[in-house]
Amino acid sequence: MADRGFDLEDRLETLEETDLKRALSPVDRVAERGYFGEPSGGDLPVLETAEALVFASNNYLGLTDDQRVQDAARQAAATVGTGAGASRLVTGDTMVHRDLERLLAEVKGTERALAFSSGYAANVGTIAALEPDVVFSDELNHASIIDGCRLADAETAVYDHCDAASLRSQLEERARTATRDGRDPADESWLIVTDSVFSMDGTVAPLEAICDAAESFGAWVMVDEAHATGLYANGGGVVQAEGLEDRVQIQMGTLSKALASQGGYVAGSAALIECLVNDARSFVFSTGLAPPAAAAASEALHVARHSGAREQLWENVAHLRDGLESMGFEVLGESQILPVLVGDRTDTIDLAEGIRERDVVAPAIRPPTVPEGTSRIRVAPMATHDEDDIITCLEAFSAAGEEVGLL
Ligand SMILES: Cc1ncc(COP(=O)(O)O)c(C=O)c1O
Repeated sequence: MADRGFDLEDRLETLEETDLKRALSPVDRVAERGYFGEPSGGDLPVLETAEALVFASNNYLGLTDDQRVQDAARQAAATVGTGAGASRLVTGDTMVHRDLERLLAEVKGTERALAFSSGYAANVGTIAALEPDVVFSDELNHASIIDGCRLADAETAVYDHCDAASLRSQLEERARTATRDGRDPADESWLIVTDSVFSMDGTVAPLEAICDAAESFGAWVMVDEAHATGLYANGGGVVQAEGLEDRVQIQMGTLSKALASQGGYVAGSAALIECLVNDARSFVFSTGLAPPAAAAASEALHVARHSGAREQLWENVAHLRDGLESMGFEVLGESQILPVLVGDRTDTIDLAEGIRERDVVAPAIRPPTVPEGTSRIRVAPMATHDEDDIITCLEAFSAAGEEVGLL
């Protein structure tokens, strides 16, 4: 009988041959340093004996091992439960979810907020539930936005990265073709979606210019603040830093990066949240966010607003960027993410290995994740790195950069 299954060995070989096969490397804990293990497949991993400094995590404020955040998770587990047990619409809606959503709405300056079980689920569920006729999407938007557009079956117009003029010309083009084809553009629903901070480039979207363009055409704006939430004005994101709360209809983000937890959220009008509660399938048909995750995120958001963690992060970012640039490296972007541009793929891998040999972890990012010729090392400092950690990282880059012949 013919085998109607799947040739998985062949797929894995192809990944191996094209240098695209990924592997899982475990670590003993999530913090600014840890003991890593070599990829071990399904076998029990063996951790290395040397501790490595982590400059590769989205745990930007270092709050995953903060006592207050851990205590909040512990307490929620003990008093509410370890899991939500059901969809929020059944019996999984608890007081810790409500506390978190109230705080998120306050920080994001919106009427309401809604917690999802991941940022991925928030993006996919929200875009699909809105059912936009056309989505205007930055070319470097996150995969969950792209998947949301696919699920919504929306026509997608991709504009150049962080380029409001390119967005405007896409909006004009769509208005022209709609009129030409006998459709009234006013009958179509248009959604502009952008990350605020882009995770591989460290760039920040020109949100004000995007809002200007949107308003000229009556489109709505959705901003993904995954890499910004907790880090900007008053613990908000770039939308808060730029005072655009009233011009951005949908603010989305995750609880899994600076907020040191798990889950995602959408903040916006009461009507938007009511629609998502009813129509976002990733909300309706998925178990509610685990109560310890909701409580940890609330506490982390509180710490992000009221402690010196944000200032410490931005100080570390400035120190590291200055140090890398004064060595002669080109550092991209204008956020807490510091992509060190190398260009050549092999040199980038060698540089990443060189710093790893010096017990500093920062990943090589290569095609197809980034365009050919723009391979880079993504360096992500944390608020909990001290000055010695930053110096160790800089020394590793200096020594490995010379070894590879880049300096
Ligand atoms: C820009 C962006 N949006 C959404 C997500 C998805 O968030 P989560 O990891 O909470 O599913 C990520 C995370 O990888 C992201 O970087």
